Amino acid sequence: MVVGKPIFTVEQIQGRVRELAEVISNDYEGKNLLAVGILRGAFMFLSDLVRAIQVPLTVDFVVAGSYMKESTTGEVKVYYDVREDVKERDVLLVEDIVDTGITLNHIRERMLLKRPRSLKICTLLDKKEKRLVDIPLDYVGFQIPNEFVVGYGLDYDNRYRNLPYIAAFRKTI
Ligand code: IMP
Repeated sequence: MVVGKPIFTVEQIQGRVRELAEVISNDYEGKNLLAVGILRGAFMFLSDLVRAIQVPLTVDFVVAGSYMKESTTGEVKVYYDVREDVKERDVLLVEDIVDTGITLNHIRERMLLKRPRSLKICTLLDKKEKRLVDIPLDYVGFQIPNEFVVGYGLDYDNRYRNLPYIAAFRKTI
């Protein structure tokens, strides 16, 4: 297994996170922001993002999964759902990467049933080429081509999440 050189360095990620946080802070001025991290992949992005956001907010989580190694099963399981009451809240779903869009679409529809005042999506990475479900992304860190990446919360078989940068990942043959 080979982890390549960083595609996005620590500095690039931190710089982009600060930019996103600035836009989000402006957009959520005077609102009732509930930032919902989609675990496990978004844990690092969420913690950096909320620390850089300048308006009051609440943090909650959804634990979901659909990915088996490098290919999605297409079946989404929610292992833990938000505990906060989302009515009257401006929910921001925070995701690490949108690939086919199946996971986020499932979580988005589930969240909409709880009738939040507003619902937006922030993802660090957008792998547009692989999209199967059209889903509105309001804040995107970086667009990436169709390659498997690890680091900064993203895993292969639950490893490499702790890398502070994002790198391409290849299985050796
Ligand atoms: P989707 O349902 O196909 O959009 O898959 C989204 C989930 O798949 C993400 O939350 C990640 O956990 C995982 N995923 C998709 N692409 C990658 C990747 O390149 N590296 C690591 N995980 C990925």
